[in-house]
Amino acid sequence: EKGGYDHFMLKEIYEQPSAILDTFRGRLLSNEGMIKLAGVEDNMKKFLAADRIIIVACGTSWHAGLVAEYIFEDLARIPVEVEYASEFRYRNPVITEKDIVIAISQSGETADTLAAIKLAKSKGAFVFGVCNVVGSTIARETDAGAYTHAGPEIGVASTKAFTTQITVLTLMALRLARAKGTMSSSEFRHHLIELETIPGKVEEALKSDAYVKTVAEIYKDSKNCLYLGRGFNFPVALEGALKLKEISYIHAEGYPAAEMKHGPIALIDEHMPVIVIATKMGHYDKVVSNIQEIKARKGKIIGIVTKGDTSVKELADHVIEVPETLECLTPLLTTIPLQLLSYHIAVMLEKNVDQPRNLAKSVTVE
Ligand code: M6R
Repeated sequence: EKGGYDHFMLKEIYEQPSAILDTFRGRLLSNEGMIKLAGVEDNMKKFLAADRIIIVACGTSWHAGLVAEYIFEDLARIPVEVEYASEFRYRNPVITEKDIVIAISQSGETADTLAAIKLAKSKGAFVFGVCNVVGSTIARETDAGAYTHAGPEIGVASTKAFTTQITVLTLMALRLARAKGTMSSSEFRHHLIELETIPGKVEEALKSDAYVKTVAEIYKDSKNCLYLGRGFNFPVALEGALKLKEISYIHAEGYPAAEMKHGPIALIDEHMPVIVIATKMGHYDKVVSNIQEIKARKGKIIGIVTKGDTSVKELADHVIEVPETLECLTPLLTTIPLQLLSYHIAVMLEKNVDQPRNLAKSVTVE
């Protein structure tokens, strides 16, 4: 049932190229220059009239929501807020019929996310679900939705659910961008064609596995670990840290790289591995200067870089390459080595990778 892999988590990491393909099957029609998502199409008027989108989720799904915030705002120019479902439900949020709430949940059973949906519905908001489990409670409770079609995710640490959630949300943002006219048709087509290459590029990113394992061997006994990223990759830093925490029990924190100097830089010394997502896009130069600051304090640097990068290579102790793509699609690639790193460290430390202590696959109590 693990398909020859030692753990479900590894199987699910390796399933990502085909899972992402399944997510856009029949939806991404690049020859016709179209995206078809029935749940969005049927409710287009509501989406176009919305003042803002509020995303509610927990854990890894919340991280996917944060990536979506950057993508929706950048491509479709719709204001987005991302909330922990557990906070949203108890803080008397301002919410009206002009709001659209997107609930993201792999299992479709998370208690806090479900309660947030019920609250939003009671205030008259239109609620859209992004779930993986077909027929789950959240899928049924929402007004409309789009499934991720990632297939069953058994490992408690979420992997393919995360990348397929980002894929669905990217399709939504692109469809809305086109409908709103915030993107030219040539830009739109360019994004569709590039999105179609992602499964192949994830496959390529997975080839770093053997090298990532050697990096895992070096840092497996660390007590702490810092993950940094900016822009679209800030949420990936949070997700990388969560993966390491939950399966290897090593304390890890994710930060937007520029926030380092507002506190966490005090932690950096020769015992602190710092994983920096430094793809050659967006804020590359700024991230390189963050890397210089870490190096000056003797921190150990593991850079996640674009294939062929030279600047980070000169500074970092290790670099892990991912293929080049559009900036907004980089999270789908930069996530891969971070999943593999936490996996290998957990295996080396002989932890229960698929069923970490104190955790359940779906959190049905608050
Ligand atoms: O099923 P959901 O997506 O609603 O679950 C949300 C979180 O409980 C989940 O993502 C959790 O954080 C994972 N164990 C992370 O790997």
